[in-house]
Amino acid sequence: MGFSIFSPTRSLDGVSGFFQVVFLLSLCLVLFKAVQFYLRRQWLLKTLQKFPSTPSHWLWGNHQKDKDLQQILTWVEKFPSACLQWLSGSRVRVLLYDPDYVKVILGRSVSDPGYGLLLLNGKKWFQHRRMLTPAFHYDILKPYVRIMADSVNTMLDKWEKLIEQDHPMEVFHYISMMTLDTVMKCAFSYQGSVQLDEQSHNQYIVSSIIRNSRSYTKAVEDLNNLTFHRIRSVFYWNNTIYKMSSDGRLFHHACQLAHEHTDGVIKMRKAQLQNEEELEKVKKKRRLDFLDILLLSKMQDGKSLSDEDVRAEVDTFMFEGHDTTASGISWIFYALATHPEHQQRCREEVQSVLGDGTSVTWDHLDQMPYTTMCIKEAMRLYPPVPNVSRELNTPVTFPDGRSLPKGITVAISIYGLHHNPRFWPNPKVFDPSRFAPDSSRHSYAFLPFSGGARNCIGKQFAMNEMKVAVALTLLRFELLPDPTRIPVPLFRLVLKSKDGIHLRLKKLR
Ligand code: HEM
Repeated sequence: MGFSIFSPTRSLDGVSGFFQVVFLLSLCLVLFKAVQFYLRRQWLLKTLQKFPSTPSHWLWGNHQKDKDLQQILTWVEKFPSACLQWLSGSRVRVLLYDPDYVKVILGRSVSDPGYGLLLLNGKKWFQHRRMLTPAFHYDILKPYVRIMADSVNTMLDKWEKLIEQDHPMEVFHYISMMTLDTVMKCAFSYQGSVQLDEQSHNQYIVSSIIRNSRSYTKAVEDLNNLTFHRIRSVFYWNNTIYKMSSDGRLFHHACQLAHEHTDGVIKMRKAQLQNEEELEKVKKKRRLDFLDILLLSKMQDGKSLSDEDVRAEVDTFMFEGHDTTASGISWIFYALATHPEHQQRCREEVQSVLGDGTSVTWDHLDQMPYTTMCIKEAMRLYPPVPNVSRELNTPVTFPDGRSLPKGITVAISIYGLHHNPRFWPNPKVFDPSRFAPDSSRHSYAFLPFSGGARNCIGKQFAMNEMKVAVALTLLRFELLPDPTRIPVPLFRLVLKSKDGIHLRLKKLR
């Protein structure tokens, strides 16, 4: 029967019929989702019954805003080895903080698909890892020490100008610009300085990179927060809902800013490599910097890396290569500020090795055992990457016989592991002697750089950078805490402090 605007009753019938159908379909969908939710939850409860569960709501899971780290300390004491953390009624992850459990997981391969070495999977991860490993060879890392020292000195010169005696300042921002500066120069052959360029806005050629560097560090901070909140919000798991939300729009904007920065860096290096002279110079090198490897290498099938692959790797290294070390250095400074006796002992050691610090070389870095112990102890208390996650691609059985099926997400809580009182007596106490050369510990009890095949590829780079930063800073400043603003560690992809890290700096005469 035809529809006519001249027969309103029939038209209304049609409309209400349409709404009835929509209503019925929606009801079916809701019922279907409810049954799916119920079955999934029942399956999880049964499968994971041998693991104790942290307190949680049946629908919303366990969420206490910004209390994660305190909670983990309680759980580590209360539930031996592992426990369940419900992110919602049907999503759960198994938190691990026992070295024997962690060892089982890190010895396996991973199944998280994605882009960039950090998120790649299987064969492609192996190919990329093998291709990029030479970028961290001793021959490459050795000359970086001087670049690191220059970047640190640039930051310290700035600090000298900024501080009035005893005036507290927030150091994370400056350290973050310094570590970005270092990674840009070392890994991406960038010839300017984002720290200096930040002050003088007049250099036209590299202006977009400079402009973007500041917004880049801000974008990384936003992405860190937004990703964390997304994992925690039941509603945001749906891509469409997330994209429409204000957080989703912010996320998109932050991604764009971050990509503008990395694209600028890639474009600039590509342009430099168009120059025959520069290309010849690079080709003569025995080993290449990270970005040059990406731009010049051919895969096994003879093809170059796709633009998408290059960008993904640059994104990963830019992020991993600066935010983690910035977090590490900031917390080390805080730990030394609150333990003046250890700070002084490190300073004396550094003075005996470096004198006034005019020259810092690779060989010097091995001659600072006490400073290294303090750096490690600070990384135990404040691990820059507090958590790493894995989705099991095959079932796993732990040494005590408990097992997990394929598909379950496990989160290795590096923070929990480093505060586990069974392996670290008085875990909250800063005690560098834990890392004395004659001390022994479980090989999986201290994992700031993770472990197994997928450990941190930049570990040596990061340790060098942290040593250079600590050594040169202690030669020029005394670090003191700001008792009015004690930093509170905040659980994010990279460990942060709630309101930054405020320290008082005293220029040494
Ligand atoms: C204190 C500084 C650093 C810490 C604590 C740290 C920690 C980590 C951790 C825990 C992982 C494992 C992540 C996972 O399995 O999900 C990792 C992986 C990685 N890190 Fe670092 N990192 C640091 C510095 C760096 C630097 C300086 C670079 C590069 C210049 C870098 C590049 C990478 C890359 C590419 C991966 C992925 C490796 C793979 O999957 O094969 N990291 N890092």
